[in-house]
Amino acid sequence: MRYCILSLEALYGTALVLAVLIMQRGPRLSLLRGGLRSLLYATGRSMKQNAYYVMLWGVAFTWLHIQNSFTGRHIEADCQNMAAVKACNILITGANRGLGLETVKQLTEDSCPKRHIFATCRDPDGPRSEALRELAKKHPSVITIIRLDANDPCSIKESAKEVGSLLGNNGLNLLVNNAGIVANGTIQTSSAEDMKNTFNTNVIGPLLIIKEYLPYLQTAAKASGTPGMSSNKAAVINISTLGGSMSTMPSLYKQFPVLPYCVSKAGFNMLTVLSAEELKADEILCMALHPGWVKTEMGGEKAPLEPKESVEGMLRVIGSLTEEQHGGFLDYTGKPIPWHHLNQKKVWRGCCVSLAASLRSSTEDSWTTLEKRFPGKPEEKNGHEKADPGPN
Ligand SMILES: NC(=O)c1ccc[n+]([C@@H]2O[C@H](COP(=O)([O-])OP(=O)(O)OC[C@H]3O[C@@H](n4cnc5c(N)ncnc54)[C@H](OP(=O)(O)O)[C@@H]3O)[C@@H](O)[C@H]2O)c1
Repeated sequence: MRYCILSLEALYGTALVLAVLIMQRGPRLSLLRGGLRSLLYATGRSMKQNAYYVMLWGVAFTWLHIQNSFTGRHIEADCQNMAAVKACNILITGANRGLGLETVKQLTEDSCPKRHIFATCRDPDGPRSEALRELAKKHPSVITIIRLDANDPCSIKESAKEVGSLLGNNGLNLLVNNAGIVANGTIQTSSAEDMKNTFNTNVIGPLLIIKEYLPYLQTAAKASGTPGMSSNKAAVINISTLGGSMSTMPSLYKQFPVLPYCVSKAGFNMLTVLSAEELKADEILCMALHPGWVKTEMGGEKAPLEPKESVEGMLRVIGSLTEEQHGGFLDYTGKPIPWHHLNQKKVWRGCCVSLAASLRSSTEDSWTTLEKRFPGKPEEKNGHEKADPGPN
């Protein structure tokens, strides 16, 4: 709906600007000029009133456009038409508990016939992976458990080799970077160790995982034979957090003093944006997703959301992604999260600067037109030029 209104505003504004320009400048368009003049008079407004109208629409449109690009509203997923994930070959990290395990569960329950899930975890045989082993036993043809420790580059390489040998010619359609750790702390209490650990698991691990699995994602993108981007074709989904957003975290910092976690997730967000930039030529969709505050070991008991609800939402969002959301950051309901601080004063200043710049350039344009029409009067343009000596 918003886009409809914006498009109508844009069309109306453009039509009026064109009308005024043609009436002022188009000496050879007299027929069109006559028609437009009658049309403008039919609106019951004078030329001046219409000019003000154009300006008002222009300012309103520019404002909405600037607001949208600051808030990232243009990347909002289409919540009404959210589709199920249809990707065939899917890999999830940290799949043995929490949101990762719930994602594997829900993807196994839906009825996608050719689906295969590579559920990775750092200790497939250990006690923390029991629930995943049980699930894999129930669905042996759908789930393969693979060892992958995000802190260990060798295990990432090994896992990619193993998955590669199991993948067919279709490649890997969906890579979900879900594994993550949290560390509490503020400037005064965070240790170098906490910073290194969170960076290793939350940033360096995902970077190496994307790197090692890239050939399989590229294969999937090529094999799909369809243009554009989608999670069913080839995609990297980074499970990030609101805590990694420059605009949202400051107001939550007192309630959640988890500095090492937030700083690492901000790095993870940058990894998402740069992956999106680098992989767009391959038509591999990259984006970050915030699951909400969820009752898991990480989220704790006070969290308002159950893993089921969060994952249902995330899968709906993932299923509906297109190139519109490439490089974006959405929450589990499909709402965009701004990457950076939205400072209203700066928005206004930006607006004024761009208006001043366009006024200046249009004045220069008119000046050039005048110069072309009256080429013999340089002294009117520049007081330093030599005055015309006249007939004497
Ligand atoms: N829960 C929330 O409220 C919330 C909010 C915002 C964002 N998130 C994000 O959502 C993702 C999942 O969180 P969660 O709530 O499910 O957390 P969780 O219950 O603590 O689960 C974390 C998962 O990551 C795995 N993991 C940790 N370090 C690993 C490593 N080095 N290599 C491989 N796997 C590793 C864990 O495996 P082990 O069992 O081996 O430790 C576990 O499977 C995280 O990226 C988190 O930042 C969660």
